[in-house]
Amino acid sequence: MRIRFLAVLMLAIPLLGGCAEAPDTSPSVEQSHFGVTPSGDSVAVFALQGADGMQMEAMTYGGIILSLEVPDGEGALEDVALGFDSLAAYTRDAYRSANPYFGAVIGRYGNRIDEGRFSVNGDTYTLATNNGPNHLHGGREGFDQVVWNAEPFHRADSVGLTLTHTSPDGHGGYPGRLDVTVTYTLAPGNELVIDYEATTTETTPVNLTQHSYFNLGGGDSESILDHRLKIHAEAYTPVDSTLIPIGEYRPVQDTPFDFTSFTPIGERIGAENRQIGIAGGYDHNFVLAREDSDSLRMAAEVYDPESGRLMTVRTTEPGLQFYSGNFLDGSFTSKSGAPYRQHAGFALETQHFPDSPNQADFPSTLLRPNETYRSRTVYGFSTPDSLNTGP
Ligand code: BGC
Repeated sequence: MRIRFLAVLMLAIPLLGGCAEAPDTSPSVEQSHFGVTPSGDSVAVFALQGADGMQMEAMTYGGIILSLEVPDGEGALEDVALGFDSLAAYTRDAYRSANPYFGAVIGRYGNRIDEGRFSVNGDTYTLATNNGPNHLHGGREGFDQVVWNAEPFHRADSVGLTLTHTSPDGHGGYPGRLDVTVTYTLAPGNELVIDYEATTTETTPVNLTQHSYFNLGGGDSESILDHRLKIHAEAYTPVDSTLIPIGEYRPVQDTPFDFTSFTPIGERIGAENRQIGIAGGYDHNFVLAREDSDSLRMAAEVYDPESGRLMTVRTTEPGLQFYSGNFLDGSFTSKSGAPYRQHAGFALETQHFPDSPNQADFPSTLLRPNETYRSRTVYGFSTPDSLNTGP
């Protein structure tokens, strides 16, 4: 893609002088113009180079991660994030109406709210319903579609991008003005650290997440069904036919939802199971914890035996939505023009549980005016020499 070419060119310039030095892989961040939205807003893209080889491109529209290049077992960089190479591909109606939320920041509320309704302190609020009868990922104009303010930063061993956005009081039906900061940091060890912070002027539900889809095979690898997945969860929250949790914590043991040891994603995805049937695969919240915590815990690990890439997900969040790309149907095409078919990528969205505003037994998602919302998720990429993929 154009931006990557520019970034590569900048890194390559020292080599053109003829000296046989190793390529400069010290952390760097370069900003360029990416395009203009249909409503006339200018969008910037940032190309970030991490200390240990990983590279990322992210734009101000939706805070979308456009590409994420990480080494395979031989050290070859490949793009493991699904997405497009032009702004227009994200802003056109055909994309927005079937929104898969490729790479985007999600808010104000990641995941579903039953019929888009909830009450706070006796007042009932009504949000847009954009997913059957339910509200999904912040509604029709979620954080995936706003142009964020962005400030790049460069520290000794890391680089990053600080994105800020103010969601006006009452926007989309949510109470209060919400001031949000999302920070992407490429840290040593090929880690992408995502920090979320928010404050509000009125008590309101908040559940921020990041919606990147990954395929650790890189490039145009067609399917993630051979990836081995481990989820550090003993239970999940089963859903009704509209994907709203029924309020139960169901043990994963002896079900196709048991990923407590590395298991190919595709091994049981066609199982006769009502929950799999409802979602057309996996599209469920796994219970990492039943209470809030400030400390990072291992949520999931995904290993691609073909490329040797391992991705780890650590988070302070209590839940993890594992979505196996069930609704991808080939209508969107990759950066090189290949169709993204069903299961072309997976998402592991760290979050509070779906529909928490209507589920008294779930950890609360309410943010009050005197509080600061804080959450951290770390996606780590490595190529271990060996991996015990058995139980
Ligand atoms: C949801 C899916 C939805 C996808 C794209 C995921 O977070 O769980 O049901 O299809 O996002 O919108």
